[in-house]
Amino acid sequence: MSEAEPSEIMIKVEHLEKHYQVEKVTIPVLKGVDFEVRRGSWIALLGTSGSGKTTLLNLLGTLEHPDAGEISFENRPYSHMDRGSQEVFRRDRIGFIFQAYHMLPELTIWENVQLPGMFQGQNRKELQQRAKELLVKVGLSHRLKHRAGELSGGEQQRAAIARALINSPALLLADEPTGNLDSQTGGEILSIFQQLHASARPVTIIMVTHDRNIATLADRVIELRDGKIEA
Ligand SMILES: Nc1ncnc2c1ncn2[C@@H]1O[C@H](COP(=O)(O)OP(=O)(O)O)[C@@H](O)[C@H]1O
Ligand SMILES: [Mg+2]
Repeated sequence: MSEAEPSEIMIKVEHLEKHYQVEKVTIPVLKGVDFEVRRGSWIALLGTSGSGKTTLLNLLGTLEHPDAGEISFENRPYSHMDRGSQEVFRRDRIGFIFQAYHMLPELTIWENVQLPGMFQGQNRKELQQRAKELLVKVGLSHRLKHRAGELSGGEQQRAAIARALINSPALLLADEPTGNLDSQTGGEILSIFQQLHASARPVTIIMVTHDRNIATLADRVIELRDGKIEA
């Protein structure tokens, strides 16, 4: 394989459909979603509450399966991956950042950040070192040995960004990463995303938000409305 071009299409979403069935009621959520994501770009996925942003992000992260349509990652269709390959793909290629941080409160943030690398079987010493470097990068060098549960929301989200990066993912999926934070702390988190995006070989970012101002920080805004991408 040749070296990746910056303009290369990394993800292709085609005619994606997803509905939920609640007893006898069918809730259509995605009704034919199409878009492409270039490697190294930062996409904001905008939409009102209930428009299907989290559903779409979960499909991109192989946490859920579509009812129709296809997602391809580096020209490889997701539907061609069996469950085991999906798990490995998710572990090695995707970093997740959630609105509610999802840190293990009894572990230190240093340990939390190392966890995905332990599942990957990384060398322990190198993993510790890399986790430390990432925590320095997100401004938490003074908090390494603090339990996650004792930290503020903003600090936990910084650590969650470090955790999402520990396996050097190709794609970062962030679901309303500043949704639980006050605007100043949220701004600090967004500036970490800006730094990541400005680096020499930026990770590709898809960030869900319902806030149009936040969306403007991204390269490109994709808006979900009535189950489709707004033209
Ligand atoms: N597991 C589920 N079962 C049933 N309905 C769901 C489920 N997950 C989401 N929904 C419904 O799908 C719609 C889209 O949800 P979601 O993707 O979470 O929207 P958003 O993230 O944009 O707020 C909502 O109407 C929600 O109630
Ligand atoms: Mg959501």
